[in-house]
Amino acid sequence: MEELRSIIRDIPDFPKKGIVFKDITTLLADGKSFHRMIDLIAHRYIGQKIDKIVGVEARGFLLGSALAYKLGVGIVLVRKPGKLPYKTLKKTYDLEYGTDTLEIHEDAFQPGERVLIADDLLATGGTVTAVVELVEELGADLVECAFLAELDFLKGRDRLPENKVFSLLHF
Ligand code: PRP
Ligand code: HPA
Repeated sequence: MEELRSIIRDIPDFPKKGIVFKDITTLLADGKSFHRMIDLIAHRYIGQKIDKIVGVEARGFLLGSALAYKLGVGIVLVRKPGKLPYKTLKKTYDLEYGTDTLEIHEDAFQPGERVLIADDLLATGGTVTAVVELVEELGADLVECAFLAELDFLKGRDRLPENKVFSLLHF
């Protein structure tokens, strides 16, 4: 685990002065590390009833699609505005460095489907809170939100339903 942690690099003052950005591209580019990360996260969910993964644009797609493949389930895309072709439900939310809007197709789930949200990083929790709201408003049942890494000092998990957050690495 320490190996995975140490391959993520810090980029000071990105995308704004004062933010130390955790750059996961170094982990993604290393085949062994990418494989290990997916196996370790998937291990937690093998044997649980999960109907769909929800992947959050853009880095969440990388984690989400590999997890969906490993678990043998489908993936639903949560995207930045104007990218999804069918009717969508939208949420605007605050980021650590600005605001953004996310969308999901309104027919993404059957009622009561069990959903695992996947993203690379939990920072303030603004993004994933919006995704949880989208998932719940469409009648799906949230299993958990899974992250590669969590920035503990930003306390994003306090904004999320209790016991519904799993992060492989903590900073
Ligand atoms: C990043 C990251 C998470 C989110 C975490 O995405 O991938 O989705 O921010 O921050 P939060 O917990 O404070 O909301 P970003 O919006 O930078 O998009 P990207 O994946 O397209 O680079
Ligand atoms: N690293 C990567 N993604 C992020 C960060 C970060 O530090 N903060 C918000 N999204």
